[in-house]
Amino acid sequence: MEVIIRPNADAAANLTANVIADAIRAKPSLVLGLATGRTMERLYKRLAEIHQEDKLSFAQVRTFNLDEYIGLPPEDKHSYRHYMNQHLFNKVDIDPANTHLPNGVAEDIDQECAHYEQRITECGGIDLQILGIGNTGHIGFNEPLSAMYSRTRAKALTPQTIEQNASQFDNPEEMPRRAITMGVGTILDAKRCILLATGKTKAQIIAKAVEGPVTSMISATALQLHPKATVIIDQPASANLQQIEYYQWLFQNEPEWEPYR
Ligand code: GLP
Repeated sequence: MEVIIRPNADAAANLTANVIADAIRAKPSLVLGLATGRTMERLYKRLAEIHQEDKLSFAQVRTFNLDEYIGLPPEDKHSYRHYMNQHLFNKVDIDPANTHLPNGVAEDIDQECAHYEQRITECGGIDLQILGIGNTGHIGFNEPLSAMYSRTRAKALTPQTIEQNASQFDNPEEMPRRAITMGVGTILDAKRCILLATGKTKAQIIAKAVEGPVTSMISATALQLHPKATVIIDQPASANLQQIEYYQWLFQNEPEWEPYR
């Protein structure tokens, strides 16, 4: 795992957008794993700008989102499908047929989960998976005690997650209690993972995820087992880390980051 600290949330999102843009330029049919949440709004805004300004094309890109609420149809404005259309898909030249999210209103949820895994495999696996982190340390909706080998499945949300996300709903009571999420194992199969987190409310969980012991209580710690995982954070989110000086040195000196400095 490597940690990159940028001065503020915009700089962290811009760096992530630049890495994604370069991955698309290198492989126009990139299989891109996507995340939702407030943190990602800056990232998608920047990607849409790069599409406009630098003519970055998403025409052949294939996407797979991490998760979707169970019980919300795609047209529901609180669904992650709606979020993705609004923040990214409607703003770039992506083919809607190439965008995938689990179907939260599938009749047979288990079958839907198996089908989602199958689609990822048919596309050749995820090249680059973007992740956020919830207050419980979840990636996707892999709440505490999610198995490290878990695959796409239905997961019950914790009270902390419900509290964190309910504010997004007009009526917080309407927030679903369950979601379909890629498993930790599904995420670890991606060729590269980037976790983006910003703001001081994430400082505590980032320290546990990055420098704490690997535990299924905090599914983001699984990224410590991934051969190519990068955590991109802003300064406030880095506040509780012990090796800040080292991480800062990495970005300033490692050849891989030279084009992004
Ligand atoms: C939801 C998503 C996660 C995301 C998290 C962070 O719970 N399922 O994938 O990482 O939100 O949200 P925010 O960026 O709003 O803090």
